[in-house]
Amino acid sequence: MRYLSGLLAAAPLLGLVSAQVSTSCNPLNSTDCPSDPGFGTDYLFNFNTTPSYELWETTAGSVTYDSENGAGFTIKKQGDSPTIRTLFYFFFGRVELLLKVAPGVGIVSSAMWLSDDLDEVDWEFLGVNNTAASTNYFGKGLQDYHNAGVYTTRDNQADFLNYTTVWTKTGIDWYIDGQHVRNLTPDAANKTRNYPQTPMRLSLGIWAGGDPSLPEGTREWAGGNTSYDQGPFTMYVKSARITDYGGGSEYAYGDTSGSWESIKVTGGNSTAYKAIHEVQTPKLSISQKWNNLPAGARIGVYVAAGVVAAVLIGALLWYCIKQRRDGAREARLATEMEKMDL
Ligand SMILES: *[C@@H]1O[C@H](CO)[C@@H](O)[C@H](O)[C@H]1NC(C)=O
Ligand SMILES: *[C@@H]1O[C@H](CO)[C@@H](O)[C@H](O)[C@H]1NC(C)=O
Ligand SMILES: *[C@@H]1O[C@H](CO)[C@@H](O)[C@H](O)[C@H]1NC(C)=O
Ligand SMILES: *[C@@H]1O[C@H](CO)[C@@H](O)[C@H](O)[C@H]1NC(C)=O
Ligand SMILES: *[C@@H]1O[C@H](CO)[C@@H](O)[C@H](O)[C@H]1NC(C)=O
Ligand SMILES: *[C@@H]1O[C@H](CO)[C@@H](O)[C@H](O)[C@H]1NC(C)=O
Repeated sequence: MRYLSGLLAAAPLLGLVSAQVSTSCNPLNSTDCPSDPGFGTDYLFNFNTTPSYELWETTAGSVTYDSENGAGFTIKKQGDSPTIRTLFYFFFGRVELLLKVAPGVGIVSSAMWLSDDLDEVDWEFLGVNNTAASTNYFGKGLQDYHNAGVYTTRDNQADFLNYTTVWTKTGIDWYIDGQHVRNLTPDAANKTRNYPQTPMRLSLGIWAGGDPSLPEGTREWAGGNTSYDQGPFTMYVKSARITDYGGGSEYAYGDTSGSWESIKVTGGNSTAYKAIHEVQTPKLSISQKWNNLPAGARIGVYVAAGVVAAVLIGALLWYCIKQRRDGAREARLATEMEKMDL
């Protein structure tokens, strides 16, 4: 994506949104950036239904979800570039995608990792060549046109292929359908300076690099001028398995170096972890709980709450005071039920 970022300046005027390579607070420039919510876990996101709004956000357009093809990212007309992004970050880790590339001249399907200081790791696919997959990386937002690698695949528009990236302190490895296609060592990335090494979010999206509004160089790179009447063009992502090796609930930049040594990891269960693993059961109202109790337990609660006398005094008095007491009674019963762990 970075390949094009310099060329896309005119795009917003026309409402064309490519995957944006930007950051709201760059930790290379500021020590006051908010810390990143960590993922801290491992999870297989199956896009047969809309993923949790606590874990993913739609950053452009709209994405469909169905049980056959998973997430569908469709370009129907000029300006469409549906994209989703994780709300959480991973700090070294692994992402396994089952993805079917969109056809179409000038159409770019992509999976991008991006950090707050603009380290980036990519998969990119051009609709004009259904047997090519390209990988790329950037460090600290530095432009470098020598980082891309292109690999031959079987028909990636007919099937879901497995695109897996494994990222550690000692290397990045890219795999297609289990076959290792590329390794990058930190040393090979400008002696670690340009090595992606800060917490990343994953974005999945599609855009038209062949849009007539874009510079000729961009359209050439993307494989030609996009004709929207040949569409719609859809990329599908069936699933994304994401593993955060950092294991943190939060990641914070300790200084402005952008080096992995400067990242402070907070332990504990992340918000994302809780959203995944601690499924909230709806809280029952007191009266629902009451109705669910067996008779013996109800008597126990009455006795404990000291309302047994009221029951015996009889209906008349009971009804007279009932209205007034209801609030207090409910509170007392609730306390007793809680104590008895009901
Ligand atoms: C840092 O801030 C300056 C001034 O706002 C800006 O010109 C520069 O591009 C920023 N650098 C980064 C890496 O964000
Ligand atoms: C598609 O890309 C592959 C990998 O780079 C290349 O070998 C092949 O020639 C390309 N096919 C066409 C039709 O350009
Ligand atoms: C995808 O490829 C990775 C890397 O080779 C492998 O570990 C994983 O099991 C594969 N997943 C599927 C669903 O085949
Ligand atoms: C490599 O790193 C040096 C600083 O160590 C920097 O000046 C140079 O611009 C970097 N090169 C590239 C291609 O980013
Ligand atoms: C796009 O269309 C214009 C106008 O027809 C043409 O001049 C140009 O060569 C085309 N660009 C590509 C990359 O096909
Ligand atoms: C994280 O959640 C698990 C349950 O899923 C729990 O056993 C563990 O104590 C929690 N850890 C922390 C630090 O809260």
